[in-house]
Amino acid sequence: MTDAGATKTGQPKTRALGKTGLQVSPLGVGTNKWSQGSNDEAVFETFQTFQNAGISFFDTAEVYGFGKSERLIGDCLRRDGRPATIATKFAPFIARSSSRHLLKALDASLARLGVNTIDLYYIHFPYPFADFNELADAMIEAVKAGKVRHVGVSNFSATQMRRVADRLSRSNIPLVANEVHYSLLARKPESNGVLDACRELGASLIAYFPLARGRLTRPPAQGKTGRLETLQKTLTDIAQAHRASPSQVALNWLLARDPCIIPIPGASIAKNAKQNIAALDWSLTGDEFAAIDAVSASWR
Ligand SMILES: NC(=O)c1ccc[n+]([C@@H]2O[C@H](COP(=O)([O-])OP(=O)(O)OC[C@H]3O[C@@H](n4cnc5c(N)ncnc54)[C@H](OP(=O)(O)O)[C@@H]3O)[C@@H](O)[C@H]2O)c1
Repeated sequence: MTDAGATKTGQPKTRALGKTGLQVSPLGVGTNKWSQGSNDEAVFETFQTFQNAGISFFDTAEVYGFGKSERLIGDCLRRDGRPATIATKFAPFIARSSSRHLLKALDASLARLGVNTIDLYYIHFPYPFADFNELADAMIEAVKAGKVRHVGVSNFSATQMRRVADRLSRSNIPLVANEVHYSLLARKPESNGVLDACRELGASLIAYFPLARGRLTRPPAQGKTGRLETLQKTLTDIAQAHRASPSQVALNWLLARDPCIIPIPGASIAKNAKQNIAALDWSLTGDEFAAIDAVSASWR
């Protein structure tokens, strides 16, 4: 791989968030790990690093750090003062999966975030004993009350997505997103119908673990020659041709895969945040995309 085919052309600075009419940064920010550290000042520095770069789509959930992630984001929003798009999630568990539970959890999330309205509110996972119609109706009530702007699901199958989308559509509310595990090491959304369902419904596919929890950020371990190392070597070679990092290559592959995909890498230190942000300064050539596609095909 040489510089010859490399493009330094930046990418569009926004992507449509489902059918919201909202444009968000092509990369969102995963904030689960933010709740695990003890340095809240480092979190604020990372938050500002993203905001300075125009990356202002932050993903949290009531369960991240038992509410700490939402509280930290609320603090960052107040201190920073600039607008941001905030997505958070309701976790339906046993004895906590009714509309009443969702609406109560929503009020608690609003309080922790310190906002009047949540931009995107997800059902975090398809708890098998939950009544999806009831939860969709609670979401509709929340939208009508002005507490939620847009509705999404997470970890839902294509069939489950369609069921919720159908229920919401009776109140003219679109299903805006499905947040699922998707990376070069987890390509099931391409074969299980979720990517197709997102395209068909005009929903965004929000890709979590886009860096495979760090495994796509580093070169292959010395002396190992398995399929992971082959993929890591391909990412490293392409990164070198662009004077970039493997993490940027992994993120750019997802961005090039489909315009409905919005990866939400986690970065809890400003250095990693800056590196991921710089993925938007360049894009893969068609040949590079195809080479990565081929070496990660076994994870489809
Ligand atoms: N909906 C769901 O069910 C669900 C489930 C899991 C996760 N999520 C969401 O997805 C987000 C992302 O998940 P994740 O953070 O666990 O996984 P990830 O984005 O795949 O990987 C993040 C890891 O890679 C490291 N990293 C990031 N950028 C790097 C860089 N440029 N160079 C080297 N290392 C780098 C991070 O380190 P540092 O932290 O030290 O920067 C962290 O250890 C979560 O925060 C959460 O918002 C959603």
